[in-house]
Amino acid sequence: MPELGKPTPFDHQLMFFRKRVDRTILHCIEPRLIHDSALVAAMCHSTLLGGKRLRPFLVYTTGQMFGITHNNLDAPAAAVECIHAYSLIHDDLPAMDNDNLRRGYPTCHIKFGEANAILAGDALQSLAFSILADVEMPDVALCDRLAMVSEVASASGITGLCGGQSMDLCAEGKQIELAELEKIHLYKTGSLIRTAIRLGALAAGVSGRAVLPVLDRYADAIGLAFQVQDDILDVIGTTEKIGKRPGADQQKRKNTYPALLGIENAKAKLCGLYKEALSALNTLAIQSYDISPLQSLASFIIQRDN
Ligand code: IPE
Ligand code: IPE
Ligand code: MG
Ligand code: MG
Ligand code: MG
Repeated sequence: MPELGKPTPFDHQLMFFRKRVDRTILHCIEPRLIHDSALVAAMCHSTLLGGKRLRPFLVYTTGQMFGITHNNLDAPAAAVECIHAYSLIHDDLPAMDNDNLRRGYPTCHIKFGEANAILAGDALQSLAFSILADVEMPDVALCDRLAMVSEVASASGITGLCGGQSMDLCAEGKQIELAELEKIHLYKTGSLIRTAIRLGALAAGVSGRAVLPVLDRYADAIGLAFQVQDDILDVIGTTEKIGKRPGADQQKRKNTYPALLGIENAKAKLCGLYKEALSALNTLAIQSYDISPLQSLASFIIQRDN
């Protein structure tokens, strides 16, 4: 059992990948610097200041599980984090969740104005695709790079993040069934998490591709668990810990797991999803893959307080 407050091996790994992906993102933004650009400042504010970098962690650890080196994974890790950062900027806008605090700082539109926040989101989205197309992946076949582009596009659009965000907004203030809520969560949050894992596998080529269905099982379980815990933290979390204003979901009459099931049942749902994630990973362990980082991530997701 790690000592309270002392960084765990998982914390160290997360920090290691965080530094790596932040360096890549900065290297990709810097050559595009426009003098005194509020747009670039807004992009940096929302990508590099705070945040856990869980999606890059998934890209790196999945890729390394299949034997591909980290230098091949910098581009997909950065791309997926740019999409994530863009989604948070737009999610916080007045037309969407209208939030003023993110990662303990003012949200992008509060600090830089709505127009810059919209543009920063747009530019981060297109930067993700530039990175996938341009940044070196020395050992990755061109067909796999193309598959990554397609993967990120579908996870971000109608069949993924945007589709889910649209369903989330349409459901505000309405009563929906649990199956519908699960669909919203899987689309708005699960699809990018699944893509992060798939990118690591695609970078590794054939060996990664062969196990995509098992990885998808793991991904869907942790993707849903991630949003269930996010919903729970909105109820029981503190501003200091989550860096956002708690109670925002209830205020907007969002459909969430705690709202539909109550906190205790939402927590029970988390346990079930955790077991499902581990069962998928066991299939990989039998094939002698080192599943420990993905295992640690699954337990972090259901226990996290930020
Ligand atoms: C928050 O994601 C938005 C959701 C998908 C629920 P994270 O909790 O991963 O955000 P950061 O990047 O760590 O701030
Ligand atoms: C957002 O879900 C999911 C995204 C795709 C950005 P939430 O609206 O619950 O995320 P937070 O709570 O604002 O981080
Ligand atoms: Mg939202
Ligand atoms: Mg939100
Ligand atoms: Mg939330």
